[in-house]
Amino acid sequence: MKIIIKNIKELLLAGEESVKKVSGKEMAKLSTIKDAFVFIDNGIIADYGKMTSLNNSKYYNDISGKNVKSIDASDKMVMPAFCDSHTHIVYDGSREIEYIDKIKGLSYEEIAKRGGGILNSAKRMQLADEAELVEQAIERLDEIKMLGTGAVEIKSGYGLTTESEMKMLKVIKKLKEFTPLTIKSTFLGAHAVPAEYKKNQSEYVRIIIEEMIPKVAEENLADYIDVFCDRGFFSEKETEMILEAGQKYGLQPKIHANELDFSGGIQAGVKYNALSVDHLEFTGKDEIDVLLNSETMPTLLPGAAFFLEMEYPPARKMIDAGLPVALASDYNPGSSPSGNMQLVTSLGCVKMKMLPEEVLNAATINGAYAMGLSNELGTIKKNKKANLIITKKIPTYAFIPYSYGSNNVDTMIINGNIQ
Ligand code: NIG
Ligand code: FE
Repeated sequence: MKIIIKNIKELLLAGEESVKKVSGKEMAKLSTIKDAFVFIDNGIIADYGKMTSLNNSKYYNDISGKNVKSIDASDKMVMPAFCDSHTHIVYDGSREIEYIDKIKGLSYEEIAKRGGGILNSAKRMQLADEAELVEQAIERLDEIKMLGTGAVEIKSGYGLTTESEMKMLKVIKKLKEFTPLTIKSTFLGAHAVPAEYKKNQSEYVRIIIEEMIPKVAEENLADYIDVFCDRGFFSEKETEMILEAGQKYGLQPKIHANELDFSGGIQAGVKYNALSVDHLEFTGKDEIDVLLNSETMPTLLPGAAFFLEMEYPPARKMIDAGLPVALASDYNPGSSPSGNMQLVTSLGCVKMKMLPEEVLNAATINGAYAMGLSNELGTIKKNKKANLIITKKIPTYAFIPYSYGSNNVDTMIINGNIQ
């Protein structure tokens, strides 16, 4: 299918340069083209530029030909679809009972200690039927797609037995057949310690290392490996052991770190060349220094901090120190039951004092980096995948984070197809 989008009020993140990620001061810059066009052919961005140069496009004959769908984007903006690099979108049922407990005053950790939280979802996961899980996840994927997401990372971690973790990863694999979204899959066996191993955590770590990781790798079910390295979950030492085992099978880490305390997770992640370390509510100078000497993407999940009413990660300090920052939704039934990346950009601005340019970079190109996809997604560039948002009529791009809770998406194009 060929599509020409014409008269775009402003084309965002459009640049010929090959950027893998945007860091520090660069995050406050957004390269845009006013009064622009984009030509899509065969699922990719074939050409783009100013409307005044449309006649000079080498595709001009194609563009003005018959087999082209023409979209007039007057007063609308076009931007790369969001790259949501951290979700737990495969789960059975919701957990609003815990939400009510939380309203009444219980903390996330207290809920977890009572057998709620991750263990609650794990109990349901073990009983759930694969087809049913696929169906529920597709519904969530369809929802986030129409909110602007074009690529998504999905973690296991509600299995917590070899069998159930494999089931989750198979569901993630199956989802690729049913959605046009680009999906990356992450093995998170070390999400919580099952109740039966509470007094023998090292045995569960052994099972992850000796049983789960080899099996996951053998069946090629995961792109990445994750550990919840935090107080009350997995220690820095256990995290290193698990990442070491993953490394033997070529599984790069993307880990949960420093959500509940200074856990050493950031250090462990960087030591094992993590693609990203995520959450980071507890980040001080030492952690920032470690990250500055790495290629690891600090990924912030303000939806979780909002929902759990926690301190937000110090995004400002990180960016001012020269770090890149990615934003992701953490879509999951416990700490962030929303995959709305537009809302995530609003939280980035209001709660973490990021600028509109910074949140847009963080939710697109930096998110793509955190999924190993910045060569094919995250900016408007020739030969990148045509995963695009056409916005409603909006006055400026700052309107996207500003109008929190609204859906500013008019049309989604994924792999060059209108959704
Ligand atoms: O990213 N922090 C650990 N895991 C999830 C929460 C999962 C849950 O509560 O079900 C998170 O916030
Ligand atoms: Fe998470």
